[in-house]
Amino acid sequence: MSSYGATITGVGYYAPPGVLSNEDLEKLVDTSDEWITQRTGMKRRHIVSPDGVTSDLAVPAALGALSAAGKRASDIDCIICATATPDYPFPALACLVSARLGVPGKPAFDISIACSGFVYSLTTAASFVRSGVFKSVLIIGAETLSKITDYTDRTTCILFGDGAGAAVVERSEEDCFLGADLGADGSDPSMLYLPGGGSRFPFNRNGELADQRLGYIKMQGQSVFKFAVNQMAASTRAALDRAGLATGDIDIVIPHQANLRIVDATIKMLGVPAEKCIVNISEYGNTSAASIPIALAEAVEQGRIRKDDVIVMVAFGGGLSWGSIVWRWKGAKVGKPTADAVAAVVGAAG
Ligand code: ACO
Repeated sequence: MSSYGATITGVGYYAPPGVLSNEDLEKLVDTSDEWITQRTGMKRRHIVSPDGVTSDLAVPAALGALSAAGKRASDIDCIICATATPDYPFPALACLVSARLGVPGKPAFDISIACSGFVYSLTTAASFVRSGVFKSVLIIGAETLSKITDYTDRTTCILFGDGAGAAVVERSEEDCFLGADLGADGSDPSMLYLPGGGSRFPFNRNGELADQRLGYIKMQGQSVFKFAVNQMAASTRAALDRAGLATGDIDIVIPHQANLRIVDATIKMLGVPAEKCIVNISEYGNTSAASIPIALAEAVEQGRIRKDDVIVMVAFGGGLSWGSIVWRWKGAKVGKPTADAVAAVVGAAG
């Protein structure tokens, strides 16, 4: 039994201005716009400049969510970042974001669970708020996947993009958290992983990282595809079950934007009509932990979500991991920080 309710009071998103189109990829690897469009639904991805870092994207997204919620960073009790591409292996991205927002000293930590990160973060933030530990939590999904993408490997480089999305979760009378399902299975990390830079293949081992291209995402695409479809549908059902709801109660699905065919197959398995599903994959590609909060913020911006709608956010990713959350929407706004506000905090972002 929860003591308090939790609601989302503001959302924001930010993508760097640089764009990598399918036509650009045709110049890098043996691929075609037609193949990429048919197999993934992707047309473009936003990519940071060579000097851009993940906090350059996380901070503008956070400023947008804060302004939409009518909050200053100093009003927030805790900052959580979901990312697989922090500025440094440590300290946590959330620590850097907290400092760049001008509020050092607050609890700040990362959730490292790849593309499932935003669903884990929202569940964690809701748990903090509902239990009374914190009154307000800023959650951010932010990635610069272009930094770990191998642009000589056509089976992966077509998929990934950079971006960030954020939400402010606050205490409220009505509880918008209706149920969640989280899970992970690390029995075969090679299904989807970044091999280098950890303790198994440390940076400091003579050239091995570069020679074997271990600093890039590796993936068994077809196996991940099958896992994704089955697990996203099963996880959605499990979360709905905990919420005491059925698939027919869903008003909006916001799936992780990994591949249009994965999204289509998942909603077909669930029996959810396509018009209830938010898809922006053609513009951003797969931005891992940023994909759901960007899609959420865009859906709010486009008026796709109405007050009291039941939303399902569902993801899968490296781990392998998965997560679904069922959330009642109470009408938060989307915020965009002014160029001056971004410049003041980030400088020449992305
Ligand atoms: N352009 C042209 N041809 C290609 C490309 C390309 N970019 N990539 C692969 N091919 C070829 C293959 O070599 C193969 O050729 P062959 O038949 O001569 O051997 C053929 O196309 C079919 O390859 P498949 O791997 O079967 O293609 P598939 O339809 O499975 O699509 C894809 C590949 C898009 C990678 C798909 O498997 C997928 O989306 N998997 C899930 C990926 C995913 O969501 N990962 C999560 C990542 S999250 C994270 O890491 C942060």
